Amino acid sequence: MAYKYHRTIKRPITDKEEMADNKPHIIVFPFPAQGHINPALEFSKCLASNGLKVTIILTTMVSKSAQVPSNTSINVETISDGTEDVKEQESIEGFFKRFKEKASQNLAKFIREQRETCPAKVLVYDSTMPWALNVAHREGLLGASFFTQASGVCAVYYHMYTGLIKFPYQDSEIVLPSMVPLGVNDLPCFSFLPDAENTILRQLTDQFSNLEEADWIFINTFDKLENEVLNWMTSRWPFKTVGPTFSLTYPGKEIANEKTHKINLFEQNYEESMKWLDSRETGSVVYVSFGSVASLKEEQMEELSHGLMMSNCYFLWVVRASEENKLPKNFTSMVSEKGLVVNWCPQTEVLSHRAIACFMTHCGWNSTLEALTSGVPFIAMGQWVDQTTNAKLIEDEFKVGIRVKPDENGLVSREEIEMCIKEVIRGEQGKKLKESADKWKELAKEAVDKGGSSATNVEDFVSKLFTC
Ligand code: UDX
Repeated sequence: MAYKYHRTIKRPITDKEEMADNKPHIIVFPFPAQGHINPALEFSKCLASNGLKVTIILTTMVSKSAQVPSNTSINVETISDGTEDVKEQESIEGFFKRFKEKASQNLAKFIREQRETCPAKVLVYDSTMPWALNVAHREGLLGASFFTQASGVCAVYYHMYTGLIKFPYQDSEIVLPSMVPLGVNDLPCFSFLPDAENTILRQLTDQFSNLEEADWIFINTFDKLENEVLNWMTSRWPFKTVGPTFSLTYPGKEIANEKTHKINLFEQNYEESMKWLDSRETGSVVYVSFGSVASLKEEQMEELSHGLMMSNCYFLWVVRASEENKLPKNFTSMVSEKGLVVNWCPQTEVLSHRAIACFMTHCGWNSTLEALTSGVPFIAMGQWVDQTTNAKLIEDEFKVGIRVKPDENGLVSREEIEMCIKEVIRGEQGKKLKESADKWKELAKEAVDKGGSSATNVEDFVSKLFTC
């Protein structure tokens, strides 16, 4: 069945009354994955609260699984990326080629259609889709690139883009401007991919291919967190920090109650997770999650299960439904009241719950910012792409966590996991990490509060839209 090129999930923006209110309209186009939709949605809610009309675009790749909150101030629409016509297994390269071709056609159609009713001024697009800037400019819109990863990671991608760093990595230590020296294991990890061309690496380095032409450049981080490398970046491009987007404040009262509104691509065990945490003592629980994409080997899941049990601490572990079959047999019944395994939880609420003592994480950038903002120390277990570099930043730059040490086969043993948990929860080092985490919590708050660096960058953007 042919798919209509775009479909409205919520009400379409065609009402006369909406056109009459004269709010500048912006379209926000995240890459359709959880780790990209989340920061884009949070940024959008803040912009809407500052008086803009915001439409978020999802694509058909995720529209079936996306649980979109009702009654939000954001309009959520779907365009086709051609997924519905794919009949055979695609290569990674084939996926990105088809995605770009179909999504750019249908994005252009969508923008044109809006022109009839509620013309948009700006397209805020995920920086990993630089072709969206060409669509915006062709259709007469301004374009704002939105980076969802750490500045340090973006800087590394830039040096890969220029050829200063080559993959596969050759040098044992790499010294880059304004960054701590990086070893091979601290650089972004791509070796897991079965794709000789390394399409993912190309997607990430291409973020810089037309950046000079962008009208704005936003990044989900905050000035004091990555001060030096940000200074280096801003000496080249006008990066504006707007993070942590999920803790940006909302001046508009009417959307204050939208703080918890998310677009989840996974079914959430909300009540179960929060109720279980409520019954635990303050600072007693290890929260374990590996994000929305990373997939641990069965052997690693087994080591992790044992390590958690051996630590004798309470734990809340997110194991996505697609990963559950890797858990040891009867694990959930064996752990009884010591641990809770859920498929998906309200992570930002979990991290800010008083019961959480530390976060064992894959070091996705959203998870990293969310824990920093909640004052939670880390056990860093980066898996791939940017996560390995984030793990390095967590340990050596932000000094807010320890990194697990894998054995020569890349496996993190149960003993290592047990030791890391005990060290962070009960050890001397744990106390220092907690102090550091509390410091970042304050500084993150300062960045998003009125007058803070990220809040001011958002305000400047909004005020320009009212005058341009
Ligand atoms: C990946 C990359 O690792 C990340 O650095 C990049 O910027 C985006 O793609 P992902 O695996 O999704 O991201 O991790 P992360 O960036 O941490 O994002 C996961 C999001 O899902 C977070 O916002 C987190 O709050 C949310 N989440 C996770 C939940 O809401 N519930 C859960 O149970 C687990």
